[in-house]
Amino acid sequence: MPNLRKTTRVVLFFFSGTGNTWWATRALAEALTAEGLQVQIENIETISPEEAATLAGGADLLGIGYPVYGSDLPEPMKGFVARLPRADGRPALVFCTQYLWSGDGARVGAALLARRGYRIRWSAHFRMPSNLTVNSRVPGMSTSDPQTIGGFRKRAAANIVRWAGAVARGKPSLTGMNLLSRFAGSWQRIPYRRGYPTMQDVIGVDGDRCTRCGRCVALCPVDNLQMKPDEVQTAGHCMLCVRCYNFCPEAAMTYRGRPHNHRRENLYPGPVDGFCPERDLLGREESPWCTTVTGSSGGSA
Ligand SMILES: Cc1cc2nc3c(=O)[nH]c(=O)nc-3n(C[C@H](O)[C@H](O)[C@H](O)COP(=O)(O)O)c2cc1C
Ligand code: SF4
Ligand code: SF4
Repeated sequence: MPNLRKTTRVVLFFFSGTGNTWWATRALAEALTAEGLQVQIENIETISPEEAATLAGGADLLGIGYPVYGSDLPEPMKGFVARLPRADGRPALVFCTQYLWSGDGARVGAALLARRGYRIRWSAHFRMPSNLTVNSRVPGMSTSDPQTIGGFRKRAAANIVRWAGAVARGKPSLTGMNLLSRFAGSWQRIPYRRGYPTMQDVIGVDGDRCTRCGRCVALCPVDNLQMKPDEVQTAGHCMLCVRCYNFCPEAAMTYRGRPHNHRRENLYPGPVDGFCPERDLLGREESPWCTTVTGSSGGSA
């Protein structure tokens, strides 16, 4: 594939529960722009299917980014890819954020894109902090320490810049595609998929802690939470993004009926200082929870 610099229009679609993939997408866009490509990024939560189809149709190179969930991809991203117009062999890239390991998390999204007619030339896994703070029986997996989070960003940024260089040079760079990765990923994905239907009801609300501020309801990407006169109710179709759990101001969300245990684990505050999901993920200008400007010490690294 020829060098892509200068002429290529790139569109990167992403889903992000708690900000890591949002941050990685911005870092990738910056790196590709520095390589001379024209890049646009779009959150699949805030773009209409019609706009997405038009953008995808006009892109020379399409990319998708998502957090890995049990070596699988988030349900909204699966639905998004299934609705993309057919591509007739146009090139695509796939990147994932993950805490530790997924085997073939990127391959799963790549396979879905290939079904829409895309030719996958690049895939990557970028390590970011874990947002899985729900199971406080396993302490220490997640972090809220700005320095530790900054360390993750720094390492991921270096990998993203390297990968963007390969993309711009037209040099294929694939991760997670071989049989071994696939086998390793299945080991995690098969039980995850089996358990998924029951897990869609594991998030709840502790009525004693909840002040009914409405933040979780407004943040849920799949309308699983509803404000009732006396309580926040769940509808049983959670897609496990853990956004409500980490950004509830009262730490009032529960996991399998258990309230969050701060002595074991802090909530994940997002990838940069002052991260505010309403503003940074959903583009809402007005939010009582957004008090600082994101990225003062974050940026792309
Ligand atoms: C339901 C769920 C499952 C996860 N599964 C994995 C996994 O299999 N491997 C891994 O390394 N990280 C896993 N993680 C961690 C996230 O992939 C990681 O923190 C990611 O960067 C979060 O991205 P986001 O902030 O864009 O949502 C999981 C997180 C959640 C919420
Ligand atoms: S964000 Fe927390 S405090 Fe606010 S309504 Fe939801 S559960 Fe209650
Ligand atoms: S209920 Fe919470 S964890 Fe589940 S999809 Fe909605 S915001 Fe995400």
